[in-house]
Amino acid sequence: MRKKTIRDIDVAGRRVFVRVDFNVPLDRGRITDDRRIVAALPTLTYLLDRGAALILASHLGRPKGPDPALRMDPIAARLGELLGRPVRKLPDCIGPEVAAVVHAMRPGDVVLLENVRFHPEEEANDPAFARALAALADVYVNDAFGTAHRAHASTAGIAAFLPAVAGLLMERELEVLGKVLDRPTPPLVVILGGKKVGDKIGVIRNLLRSAQTMLIGGGMCYTFLRAAGGRIGSSLCEEDKLGLARDLMDEARRRGAEVLLPVDILAVQRVVADAPVQTVDARAIPDGWIGVDIGPRTVAAFGTPVAGAGTVVWNGPMGVFEIPPFAGGTRAIARAVAESRAESVVGGGDTAAAVEQFGYAEKITHISTGGGASLEFMEGKTLPGVAVLQDV
Ligand code: 3PG
Repeated sequence: MRKKTIRDIDVAGRRVFVRVDFNVPLDRGRITDDRRIVAALPTLTYLLDRGAALILASHLGRPKGPDPALRMDPIAARLGELLGRPVRKLPDCIGPEVAAVVHAMRPGDVVLLENVRFHPEEEANDPAFARALAALADVYVNDAFGTAHRAHASTAGIAAFLPAVAGLLMERELEVLGKVLDRPTPPLVVILGGKKVGDKIGVIRNLLRSAQTMLIGGGMCYTFLRAAGGRIGSSLCEEDKLGLARDLMDEARRRGAEVLLPVDILAVQRVVADAPVQTVDARAIPDGWIGVDIGPRTVAAFGTPVAGAGTVVWNGPMGVFEIPPFAGGTRAIARAVAESRAESVVGGGDTAAAVEQFGYAEKITHISTGGGASLEFMEGKTLPGVAVLQDV
């Protein structure tokens, strides 16, 4: 179902409540990655250029009540720099003080509300709280794709009280991810990594409908290797998912999709940067050794389908890439995806960070701002923050 966007409404002289996902990583109050703020700029400038006043709202972290370390101030400062105009951070997101400031706003003004999760009513999707947020504005815009899988007051409940449309980031995410699900240019190659099989089951099942090849690396590959009869030493293994891993491989076979597991692995005895490393057969990892990255033969084996793909979907790093000696596999796959002519979609915070860190972001068709949201979308689930928006 296509959703109305800010292109379909008139915002001149109106107060527009924009739910953004400014849940960015912070290190002692400093933003370490501002990609989610940058990704919201097209929507914000579009609205400002057309004479709207903007009331922006986001969560930051998972506070249980007010938490000084999770105030929105550093984000307001960064957004102000990026927009080239002042962004006033308000002390709360509802209440008389906020209402007074908001009602005095002029076209072109921008305010950022305090972290909406300082109120437990946000995550409870409390209707009175949603109504109080809605009372600040004339129109609701959801541009927070990264939080669209949450049915919270500022992502879903508020739409009961205001005309509700999608922002431009939300529109692009839905368009690109929707095409990959429904009409991928074949062959579709899916690369999955990350720690847990459990997080990716729904995605594997749903994408097996259309994928020709599934490449499995990262922490989750050891459960698959073990399920396929391999010895994995002391590598990560989800014992309770072994049966499921076997079922998924059988299902792939029945559907004619190829599942490639690593053939060689970099292994260490302790996961520290200066640990001695050996490259071993992926199905014969010695006792006491832990797999931390895919090996060079695997990189070559995974590279072939990626090079011939029409569409590549990648979610989850191939190893412990945060530790430089174990980053080679993830870096090589990032390069293969960047160099392939396929339409490429990368999802998940870690994978996006890896692609950026290795300098390949420009060569990827779309880097999703969603972690959990992009996974749930790929599972075929309806996202509550999308469902509430007006249909075209
Ligand atoms: C994310 O970072 O995935 C989103 O901002 C959602 O955050 P949450 O998992 O705390 O709801």
